[in-house]
Amino acid sequence: MNERHPVAQNPNYVPALGRPELTGFYDHAIALLTRERRWRTALLELVVPSPGETILDVGCGTGSFAIMMKRQCPAARVIGVDPDPVVLEIARAKAIKAGIAIGWTEAMGDELARTGIGPVDKAVSSLVFHQCPLPMKRAILAAMHGTLRPGGALLIADYGEQRSRTMRFLFRQIQRLDGFENTQPNADGVLPKLFAAAGFERVVERQSIPTPTGSISIYASAPNGGNYGICLHVNMLTCGQLAAQGLFDQPKVENMGRDKHASHEYQNWYRHPFLAWPRR
Ligand SMILES: C[S@@+](CC[C@H](N)C(=O)[O-])C[C@H]1O[C@@H](n2cnc3c(N)ncnc32)[C@H](O)[C@@H]1O
Repeated sequence: MNERHPVAQNPNYVPALGRPELTGFYDHAIALLTRERRWRTALLELVVPSPGETILDVGCGTGSFAIMMKRQCPAARVIGVDPDPVVLEIARAKAIKAGIAIGWTEAMGDELARTGIGPVDKAVSSLVFHQCPLPMKRAILAAMHGTLRPGGALLIADYGEQRSRTMRFLFRQIQRLDGFENTQPNADGVLPKLFAAAGFERVVERQSIPTPTGSISIYASAPNGGNYGICLHVNMLTCGQLAAQGLFDQPKVENMGRDKHASHEYQNWYRHPFLAWPRR
């Protein structure tokens, strides 16, 4: 363990798999124990990475989700931040192997301001908050809020409220690895309250996905500047219907069939949980 490693510097820091010596097994463990494809896909469907935007992944670990986002939309700029140089090394190697360019930055989630990253369009984080002490959960959310541009979106996947006896029982496996003190607030449903306290005006738990290690919740929230009043599940509607209702300006919608980029932008807006569409 080198002196720079967060474990050496911060007794409250918990590494990816609970103990530093397990980090090399992280990807296998997550694939085996969390229904990884299911929840990562659900998160990605809400993020909708789009050309030209900057997306920040806080506590990116071995980079699996950052790589997924960049693969989905190579024209988006993706930045992964994590305090652990060992996981970042794994992330870098995976991205190089995949031929994908991601900006990796070594920092704690509460140190985003000093990294100079931002403003970003979307801030995402997966499986990080459950293993942080309460003050750190708060500090990371405050830092994410400070990094987002007005109207930007926050998207989180993590072990959330464990609502059934079975899920609480299964979640104990994670609690034994990552510690009860840090994980219990998540199991008790603290996250939405922390989002609100950090200034995220609207928080929606979009899904709670049962896994062999407890339920993983997908949350989507947005800070300020967006048109949050219009919170429709419009992905059920076609863009034509939306245009008919006057929700989109007609020429742009008509252009969608011809202009791939415009089409992508509209996909982003109409699938976005809060429809924080730009007023251009
Ligand atoms: C369980 S892993 C999740 C990694 C990745 N996000 C994923 O979805 O696979 C938790 C990660 O959070 C990082 N982490 C722990 N405390 C952190 C903090 N205070 N700020 C930022 N990252 C932190 C760890 O280094 C680890 O890589």
